[in-house]
Amino acid sequence: MSTLKAVRGTRDLLPPETELWNFVEETARRVFAGYNFGEIRTPIFEDTQLFARGVGEETDIVSKEMYTWEDRARAQSEKAQSLTLRPENTAGVVRAYIEHKLGETGLLQKLYYIGPQFRRERPQKGRYRQFWQIGAEVIGPPSAGAESPLRDAEVLEMLATFLDELGITGWRLEINSVGSATDRPRYIAALREALAPVKHLMCEDNQRRAETNPLRVLDSKDPNDQEIIDKLPKIADYLDEVSKAHFAAVLAALDACGVEYEVNPRLVRGLDYYTRTTFEFTHGGLGAQNALLGGGRYDGLSEAIGGPKAPGIGFAMGEDRLILTLEAQAAKQTSFADAYLAPMGETLNPAALELARELRRGGLRVELGDGAFRLKKSFEMGNKLARKIVLFGEDELQSGILTVKDFASGEQVKVPRAELVAALKQN
Ligand code: HAM
Repeated sequence: MSTLKAVRGTRDLLPPETELWNFVEETARRVFAGYNFGEIRTPIFEDTQLFARGVGEETDIVSKEMYTWEDRARAQSEKAQSLTLRPENTAGVVRAYIEHKLGETGLLQKLYYIGPQFRRERPQKGRYRQFWQIGAEVIGPPSAGAESPLRDAEVLEMLATFLDELGITGWRLEINSVGSATDRPRYIAALREALAPVKHLMCEDNQRRAETNPLRVLDSKDPNDQEIIDKLPKIADYLDEVSKAHFAAVLAALDACGVEYEVNPRLVRGLDYYTRTTFEFTHGGLGAQNALLGGGRYDGLSEAIGGPKAPGIGFAMGEDRLILTLEAQAAKQTSFADAYLAPMGETLNPAALELARELRRGGLRVELGDGAFRLKKSFEMGNKLARKIVLFGEDELQSGILTVKDFASGEQVKVPRAELVAALKQN
């Protein structure tokens, strides 16, 4: 009998890794509590219509990636129903907001969730079919100030604080405005018009998107289509005065609290409910799936699924990707020295020891090689132990100009001894 394995795109999380998952979740609960968020737990499956109407029929998520089945009636009083494993949790949270009449409190609802989501995507590093999200939503009646740009900025500031608390370094915040429900159709019409004469030159995927969902062309990564995409109309030119003022106020509030960002006019995101602010936090260490988290404002979502006017803003982080980033950072910190010192000749060993002492006193992690090793062996050892190798023979020692090679990039530079500590500290 063949052995059974976890289904493609799903995986087991085992100790000790689960400790890291708990650490991430505990940090989220602690940080979010400081902003007065409370936890919500919604069902893992919902009526398929919720996602069709909320997330959008034309999105990749709804049209291609959902796990949907027909649930048979068990009794005459029951009807057969199409059900779907949740591919995301914003639609479910807004459904719960409507169902429990939370708007009638007249207060903003600040809700966070931690749980698995399901999408039938092509699995790769950082992309799974069952993955975990930690997300939060701020929703409420307009009278509670749910539309205020202050709410957008507060959510973004909370995310920056959370990532800093986790110890994730090197993240980038990209932000854009996709306009209001009236700006978007005007922009989409302009995109269609601009795409009509050129779309046949684009890849098959983009030709299809140009027909079904032209906004999605903007975040295509196809290298051959970039020149065309760069020349397409920009959403910023189609925002009405209210949307422009909203976006400016969000950016001003971020400036005021020192959260750094980059405006990316092509950031449209893959869900149809967004209005005005959209954002992503990316991390270079993640490779192709570089979005640590994504989110934005969805002022019309409640009405789209039959509820009262309830503007909102929120985000979801890929917990799997937070863990991957933390693990990569820890591996770099714990197993890699900053430099491997390779003296070329045994007689240089005392000078190498002296240099190692100098660099260690400068705050570096240094692995001391041995001048008795051949150059090839020094390179092999250094590559296993350190990010960079410092090479020197008698001449270099005399001149005080040493050679530094970065193993990852292959770049080799000459560095004066007085500048060595600073050069080795650079990533
Ligand atoms: P999303 O961009 O589809 O947005 O997903 C948010 C994050 O979930 C992504 O940035 C990524 O880190 C993670 N993620 C998505 N798909 C996968 C996958 N297949 N494997 C691993 N991680 C994945 C939403 O889901 C919105 N509900 C966010 C939101 C909340 N907007 C407003 N409120």
